[in-house]
Amino acid sequence: MRHLIDPMDLTVEEIDQLLAVGDDIIQHPHKYAAICKGKKLATLFYEPSTRTRLSFESAMLELGGSVIGFSSADSSSAAKGESVADTIRVIGCFADIAAMRHPKEGAPMVAAMNSPIPVINAGDGGHQHPTQTLTDLMTIHRLKGRLDNMTVGLCGDLKFGRTVHSLILALSRYMGIRFVLISPDELKVPDYIKEEVLDKNHIPYTEVHSLDDAMPQLDLLYMTRIQRERFASEEEYQRLKDSYILTPKQLEKAKPDMYILHPLPRVNEIAVAVDSDPRAAYFTQVFCGKIIRMALIMKLLDLIPEPFNQELPAPERDTSAPVVHHLHCTNPRCITTIEQELPQSFRLADEATKTYRCIYCETLVQDK
Ligand code: CP
Repeated sequence: MRHLIDPMDLTVEEIDQLLAVGDDIIQHPHKYAAICKGKKLATLFYEPSTRTRLSFESAMLELGGSVIGFSSADSSSAAKGESVADTIRVIGCFADIAAMRHPKEGAPMVAAMNSPIPVINAGDGGHQHPTQTLTDLMTIHRLKGRLDNMTVGLCGDLKFGRTVHSLILALSRYMGIRFVLISPDELKVPDYIKEEVLDKNHIPYTEVHSLDDAMPQLDLLYMTRIQRERFASEEEYQRLKDSYILTPKQLEKAKPDMYILHPLPRVNEIAVAVDSDPRAAYFTQVFCGKIIRMALIMKLLDLIPEPFNQELPAPERDTSAPVVHHLHCTNPRCITTIEQELPQSFRLADEATKTYRCIYCETLVQDK
């Protein structure tokens, strides 16, 4: 059984397969209208969502399946203290596949570890959002005709923006990708991504403050909102919230084919006046989100039709390093902070510095 917890749970070939299925869905929607007849999707949303939850639900309905679920922790037995592990065991009695969003990082992974049905991470805290990344890849592929050889500007809250983390992981596997990371110092991309993904794979990147200075070199600009709900202090949020506001004037310096993406929701980081610019692609992204989730649901349920249903090997993840339990995760957003029964679990990340990575949220902790 397959789950999608982070973007690396799919190979590049499997992503190509999903993109091909997505294009075919757009051309021949009737072919797919009953593929999931009799199947149920459970949407388990412990945190607010408009696009992800409703696009998953639309995707399953358009495949002829049905949907159950909850849209807030308050309306589920999580409010009574039920664990993620128990919840997914229960949901496995009702549904064939589940999409989970959770404010705590690693929660969908814990669900997958205990689940009798495929689990999809629909966003976990500030960690990962792999189906947004599939959405982004499909959008980029349809607009640019390729996923390689691009300078990609990522702008805004690169610390808490889970869509940014997942997109960096996914694009790091394509040739000729260069990142310009545009953020205030306080909201830079986390070290584990820079060290483990960018540095390890020799992917060129620069970290800058000025969007204006970066603009002329970009082939894509991925804007993100400052993630108010992840800040420990409201004062810090207020100080940083208006760091970037993209305007038509700024776009005068951009390439004529530099598309603007944004996972949405937007607060004020893209002026509404930008929406009429032909390079504004964020509502195209929303459309792609439903289509690619249709393809993903079929894949995880083993229902992709011919001629796209070729057997493709799953990625090989290196889980050979032993799990140790004597450390404590320092991330206040880690699932271990609310699920006391969950064992603290780490794998060695770097022997020289005795650094270990939490298996749930990937936070690096030193063994002193
Ligand atoms: N892009 C995204 O995850 O949007 P929602 O929070 O509305 O699901």
